Amino acid sequence: MLAADAMREIALDAEDDFDGWREGVRAAVRDGIAPERIVWRVGSAPGELFGEAAPAAAGAASFTVPRAFVDLARKAILHSDRERFALLHTLLVRLLARPGLLDDAADPLVRRVEGLAREVRRDIHKMRAFVRFREVAEPEGARFVAWFEPDFHIVRANAVFFLDRFASMRWSILTPEVSIHWDGATLAEGPGATKADAPDGDPVEAMWQSYYAAIFNPARLKVGMMLKEMPRKYWKNMPETALVPQLIAGAQAREAGMVETARTKPGGNIEAAWAALREEAMSCTRCPLHEHATQTVFGEGPVDAAMLFVGEQPGDQEDLAGRPFVGPAGQLFDRALAEAGIDRDTIYVTNAVKHFKFEQRGKRRIHAKPDAGEITACRWWIEQERALVRPKRTVALGATAARSLFGKAVTISRERGRALELPGGGEAWITVHPSYLLRLPDPTARAEEYARFVADLKAAAHT
Ligand code: URA
Repeated sequence: MLAADAMREIALDAEDDFDGWREGVRAAVRDGIAPERIVWRVGSAPGELFGEAAPAAAGAASFTVPRAFVDLARKAILHSDRERFALLHTLLVRLLARPGLLDDAADPLVRRVEGLAREVRRDIHKMRAFVRFREVAEPEGARFVAWFEPDFHIVRANAVFFLDRFASMRWSILTPEVSIHWDGATLAEGPGATKADAPDGDPVEAMWQSYYAAIFNPARLKVGMMLKEMPRKYWKNMPETALVPQLIAGAQAREAGMVETARTKPGGNIEAAWAALREEAMSCTRCPLHEHATQTVFGEGPVDAAMLFVGEQPGDQEDLAGRPFVGPAGQLFDRALAEAGIDRDTIYVTNAVKHFKFEQRGKRRIHAKPDAGEITACRWWIEQERALVRPKRTVALGATAARSLFGKAVTISRERGRALELPGGGEAWITVHPSYLLRLPDPTARAEEYARFVADLKAAAHT
């Protein structure tokens, strides 16, 4: 009989041994051993801490987990975080007790594990995008050899991808942890290597060019994504880096062209242009805020809205939900809109800055004000949104929104409550940001300021 408070050691064959982890966890669940009582060991050296061996897999626990969990776990396990085996075990135990857990984007454990999986996915993509093969003459014929340094344990999981693309060639990918070799028939694994083991010289241009074209199909080229996925440490070996400024210019021209065509050509599809613009914005890397935010929070609402409202930047809840003004400020905004006789379903709502800027304090993410550079970098998107929606009136909620629209600092107390002319044409109205109202400590002042806010919204909508 196994004591539930016994410690158990589970040995995995390798850092990416998902099957071993699954088997070990099934046995632990079957025996009622809590995650904190498991010691995970990677490698074949016998454990010294615990005399009791992990029990055989006989009689595996009978439970099923959603496919989404398996996919998540398969990715997260490839991370280098030493706690990942235990975190996944804990997540599994909680999931068995609460089947909808994975949908709770605010749950700290779900977020942590998803964060691991996200970093792993990026690393997988980086490897696919940035390996560079050099040709080596061997007695059997040419072999193409590449050196790559992944951040995580992704090499085996990625091998099939290269096999699919280069099945008819002989190739090797060398990495510090492991090397993989394909001889045209068999995939073999060897020990880790060093950069010195890989050949020098120019990458095989024709090969990488066709490969690169397949990964970044120029017809759908997303420069933002490409830059985001291309950390500077990889740039030195990459001839296409020289193209980057041109590609950015090309992307802007394409986005602007799309908007222009949708607006000016008969039958132009504004919805489709908006969807394409949003899609491009999803991989925006024009400023560093994308690095820590969960996602781009693009504007939303009817693309033919008569009024367009601009906030500052997504907050914590907007960052997680991917939608503007859904948190506390959004709720106050909704209430004020209703009191001003404005139906939120008829307006377009967006932000001056599309990524959440915050400071991490313990587990909390505290809002940080975007600076002038970040506002300027993001102006591109709001200009495109305005060019598409062509609102009759644009309302700036707070100083950041006003700076974004006017391209300079604006004093709200002086300009609020009346129609102003925007630099590129169009009518703008300025008022305070709903968060300002939430921050006012004095209830009387808050009520007064709220009433002024509602009056500003009414004036903007009905004057
Ligand atoms: N504050 C903003 O400015 N925008 C949001 O979307 C949420 C809070």
